[in-house]
Amino acid sequence: MTQHNRAIFQPSGQIQFGIFFQGVNSGTIWKAAEAGSQTDFESFRHIVQTAERGKFAAFFLGEGLRLREHLGRPHALDVVGRPDAQTMLAALAAVTTNIGLVATQNTTYNDPADLAHRLSSLDLISGGRAAWNVVTTDNAWTGANFRRGGYLDHADRYKHAEAFVETAKRIWDSWETSSGPARRVLHEGQHYTVDVTPRLPRSAQYRPVLFQAGDSPEGRDFAARQADVIFSAHPKFDDAVEFRRDIVARSVAAGRGANAVQIMPASEFILAATDQEAQEKKAWVRSLQIGPQQAIAYLEQFWGRELSSYDPDGPLPEIDPVVEETSETRGSGFHGAKARQLADQWRAEAKDKGLTIRQFVTSKTARIDATFTGSYTAVADHLAEYARVGAVDGFNISPWLIPTGLDEIVNHLVPELQDRGVYPMEYRGTTLRENLGLETPVRSDEAVRA
Ligand SMILES: Cc1cc2nc3c(=O)[nH]c(=O)nc-3n(C[C@H](O)[C@H](O)[C@H](O)COP(=O)(O)O)c2cc1C
Repeated sequence: MTQHNRAIFQPSGQIQFGIFFQGVNSGTIWKAAEAGSQTDFESFRHIVQTAERGKFAAFFLGEGLRLREHLGRPHALDVVGRPDAQTMLAALAAVTTNIGLVATQNTTYNDPADLAHRLSSLDLISGGRAAWNVVTTDNAWTGANFRRGGYLDHADRYKHAEAFVETAKRIWDSWETSSGPARRVLHEGQHYTVDVTPRLPRSAQYRPVLFQAGDSPEGRDFAARQADVIFSAHPKFDDAVEFRRDIVARSVAAGRGANAVQIMPASEFILAATDQEAQEKKAWVRSLQIGPQQAIAYLEQFWGRELSSYDPDGPLPEIDPVVEETSETRGSGFHGAKARQLADQWRAEAKDKGLTIRQFVTSKTARIDATFTGSYTAVADHLAEYARVGAVDGFNISPWLIPTGLDEIVNHLVPELQDRGVYPMEYRGTTLRENLGLETPVRSDEAVRA
């Protein structure tokens, strides 16, 4: 390909699916009679094998290292505990053959020599199906559990992340080749030191595929330089097209091709045989996602006080929040806003739209922008349009029910997409890199010899 071509984005005309099995969240209906457990292996086995039957590219686990707490209790919207990602993915490797296994791991509290080794282990165990979703983790209450305490400033987190990922790549690159023995990797930086010779050979896909999640300009530039796939927060069509344009520009500026970084936004699907049934189902799903207690608990995060005497089906509390500013322990939704100002704004918004507490909280917490609701055929037509223009490379789907939430997607939506020629009929290969259509990295001295 010429330099000119590499700078112009070429849509693949295809989309792929990943499954995002959530832990800490309000999107999965854990309390429904049909819901499984977030810790039983059977939940994971059912969902990963369903995904593989539907030719999903990847099974994805996020990372929440500490529960959010407020008023001295774990946050009522959070699921209490979910097994460690790498342990679970190693077990899932044994009951699957083709699907990629993505572990979210942060760069702020890990160390590169150790993490590179653990990810290599997963990559070898799975026959080249491992991926690492690189995140920096944006809260101090997580940091309080690590020996350094606290956490890094935003700008420092990405500097640290860059050095971390480059060091991990150097370790993966340093295994012996026909041109020489394994090489020692030395790094002495502000946050960690490394003096390591790799202990494991390359996997069938060379090294784990790198995902990235983090949406600031620094996060996007970091992804443009380092990542293979972005787990994005931009699923809506126009927003997805704009995000693609932005990432293409950043990856070309970083000296990589326009197609170097794939994009898979977070998404939710509420499907049925007809559009009307799907709309009715959506109302039911939403009512279960945010029950009365969850609605009150959500507001308590921001108000900093007990609100249990308020009617979840009534208006937002007239009483003011007890604090002016939130602390970082009080939930990720806040992001430094002033509590009283926010309460005024929300009361006005809820009044304007005629929303009760529960309806208002649902509108704030549900994946409103990320939800595809409709008949199988209507949603398939809509997704085919994403494929045609190359708005995304795929979707990372959060099922609203575990473990059966993917069944209708695999049984009904996937065949509709296959009929339209926009979704794989089969896995291309056995490694994640092959199945995503990513190029194999080449070590610089090998490139010279080749
Ligand atoms: C779609 C998406 C998913 C994320 N998933 C996780 C996660 O599972 N665990 C985590 O610690 N952080 C997660 N993050 C947060 C990132 O770690 C990052 O700290 C945060 O987005 C702040 O970086 P930013 O300012 O670049 O967005 C996620 C971010 C996005 C956009």
